[in-house]
Amino acid sequence: MTLLGSNIKSVFLTGGAGFIGSHVADLLRADGYAVTVYDNLSNGHREFIERHIGKPNFKFVQADILDTDRLATEMKGHDLVWHLAANTDIIGGAEQPRRDLRDCVMGTFNVVEAMRQLKIQRIIFSSTGAVYGELCTDIATSESSGPLLPVSTYAAGKIGSEAFISAFCHLYGLRGWMYRFGNVIGGRMTHGVIFDFIRKLRENPKELLIRGDGRQEKNYFLVEECIQGMAYGFRTIPMTDDKPCDVFNLGTDSITKVVDIAQIIKEEMDLPDARIVIEGTKRAWPGDQPRVHITVDRVNGFGWKAKLKSDQAVRIAARRMMGKEVWAFGG
Ligand SMILES: NC(=O)c1ccc[n+]([C@@H]2O[C@H](COP(=O)([O-])OP(=O)(O)OC[C@H]3O[C@@H](n4cnc5c(N)ncnc54)[C@H](O)[C@@H]3O)[C@@H](O)[C@H]2O)c1
Repeated sequence: MTLLGSNIKSVFLTGGAGFIGSHVADLLRADGYAVTVYDNLSNGHREFIERHIGKPNFKFVQADILDTDRLATEMKGHDLVWHLAANTDIIGGAEQPRRDLRDCVMGTFNVVEAMRQLKIQRIIFSSTGAVYGELCTDIATSESSGPLLPVSTYAAGKIGSEAFISAFCHLYGLRGWMYRFGNVIGGRMTHGVIFDFIRKLRENPKELLIRGDGRQEKNYFLVEECIQGMAYGFRTIPMTDDKPCDVFNLGTDSITKVVDIAQIIKEEMDLPDARIVIEGTKRAWPGDQPRVHITVDRVNGFGWKAKLKSDQAVRIAARRMMGKEVWAFGG
């Protein structure tokens, strides 16, 4: 079974030079799909996709989803849009709120508008569990939980994007598979708690400072499980005239506490004596969601389940970041 089935031959992949996107490109190429990566490299890395550049049926376009002419020109002729481009600097977003409006809401609008004009029907979209705001602090939120009152401009941007995709699906015949992820982790991460802890312990092997109250807990899952989950939904959950799009939580059915991440990283770096210091308040930065609980029952009900528990995924991702373990697709 190929990743997206045999009806799809060519994929237009926005954000394809980023952490998740470059792995999507690897998996699509391994299955023989033609791929166009469209990325402005604001946070992506050419080296993540270097192995594909110059190969047949692969094109890299360094451009912005806000450039509507270029977007439509390059998107033309593809069977599916896999839309991952977004501002992913959640902390920085608090200081530049317009970035989430531009790179997420307006960018997604441009993507679906180009699809409408070019008569490209299918879109896979990466949303986030952050859309649940404070709701997911104490209860595990499902897709029908609400009201959605985001606490970051990043999450506001994702809700706006989901809304435009849904409206275009209902009005113009598009078909949308939207996924609200937990925390996606792997060897090519460029930020996040695992990345930070390894960096800090390399700088000072005697002490690890944890920002926040140490009670943070989130759902972590490996990048390949995330991609396989999105593709599984696309292959097996049909969208119809009555229901042209849908949204699914995606992650594991478990969580990892931040202090346990610190412990796993201490073990993997062989630093048993490193002191853990917890300093700060409940919210480590403006817009932070210290406790994120989402249920993945719905996607499990359709037959997809992450194979690894959150703690196992954290250990593997940490090992990959340290170069101790490499996934078949590098990282
Ligand atoms: N990593 C996670 O834990 C996680 C969790 C929930 C949702 N997501 C979503 O998954 C997607 C991929 O995330 P990631 O972790 O790989 O992040 P990333 O920052 O590595 O990838 C995003 C890519 O989009 C590109 N990009 C940004 N703005 C652009 C624009 N205006 N035009 C063209 N390209 C642009 C960046 O250069 C980057 O390569 C994002 O939409 C993100 O919001 C990620």
